[in-house]
Amino acid sequence: MTNEAIDMSRGVPPTDLLPTEKVKECAMSAMDNFGRSLLQYHSKITPTVQGFQPLMELLADEMGNGAKQENVLIGNGSLDVFDILTNSLVEAGDNVLVESPSYDRSITTLERAGCNVTGVPLEEDGLDTGRLADLVEEKNFKLLYIIPDFQNPSGITTSTKKRNEVTELAEEHDFWIIEDSPYYKLRYKGEHKPRMWDLSPQKVLYMSSFSKLIAPGLRIGWTIIPEDINEKVLQYAEDSYITPSILSQGVVYEFLQRGWLEPNIEKLKESYVVRLNALLENLESKMPEASWAEPEGGFFVGLNLPGGTTFTDLEEKSEELGLNFSDSRKFFPEGGDVNFLRIPFCTLSPEEIEESISRLKEVL
Ligand SMILES: Cc1ncc(COP(=O)(O)O)c(C=O)c1O
Repeated sequence: MTNEAIDMSRGVPPTDLLPTEKVKECAMSAMDNFGRSLLQYHSKITPTVQGFQPLMELLADEMGNGAKQENVLIGNGSLDVFDILTNSLVEAGDNVLVESPSYDRSITTLERAGCNVTGVPLEEDGLDTGRLADLVEEKNFKLLYIIPDFQNPSGITTSTKKRNEVTELAEEHDFWIIEDSPYYKLRYKGEHKPRMWDLSPQKVLYMSSFSKLIAPGLRIGWTIIPEDINEKVLQYAEDSYITPSILSQGVVYEFLQRGWLEPNIEKLKESYVVRLNALLENLESKMPEASWAEPEGGFFVGLNLPGGTTFTDLEEKSEELGLNFSDSRKFFPEGGDVNFLRIPFCTLSPEEIEESISRLKEVL
């Protein structure tokens, strides 16, 4: 490798793994099969803001466990869906909970809606449920936002025991859980854990996305919502955008109908596990004094920086190192400096991984 800058800031799929030709074919047949409906606000197969009915039906069927098509909402990416859910459920001044660290854009969404955001420390098997129990005992919280599978930014997966504890607390203390799970199907090792939605479908709003499974540019994310808030959420969505991008939904539907999703995921997993293993080997050999939780899937390893090094120390050296980082401080709702770095291994080639960890080792 030359001394070129390496971008370690973005958790995005590598462009050469995007299924361009397949999506092109699906776009053509979506237009052939449903063109008039896909170009209109509403039609017989898109009668409401919820989206393209054939895709809603596939998503509800796949969720199983009694999921109904009429409780599915497909939006323009899951971040957009999260914005809709947040604004339908909270009012300015409401208290909400997130894991600490958590996905920075979701923290921003909650703050923008005027929420008081409290972080619950994340442990190697998920958030500290003892601390969560104390917090919900002390005051009322409207919702908990959680990424239980291969969390962004830490790579941590919540254990089955903690999933049960958290859903029990939500039922007892009456708060919503928003389960954001875009990486669930990108598991490279170990067994799937039960979705929190399966444990408490009346308290959990499940969210997922095709950004990491097909392509982010399609902007397709979706949620399944409990019956009693359906109307409120749908009204908010309709007032926001009348309908989402139906054309993209038609494309995703064609992709699923052809049975292309599972082989695409297998192809992604084959490539991502090589990158994850390259990162783990490099960390073990070059940075034994740092610590990290070994992820079983997803996009990220969260590195605890050794020897009191803070993110600000790293940032000061980033130009000299030729490395770009995302701002670790934004993952922590408490603010302040942190000893943490998110490494998005899927985005980097094994060569870039080796080079970036060598450069990091030098500065640490
Ligand atoms: C946990 C999590 N939620 C939501 C998103 C946003 O995904 P989408 O492209 O579906 O908006 C991301 C993207 O990285 C993410 O990591």
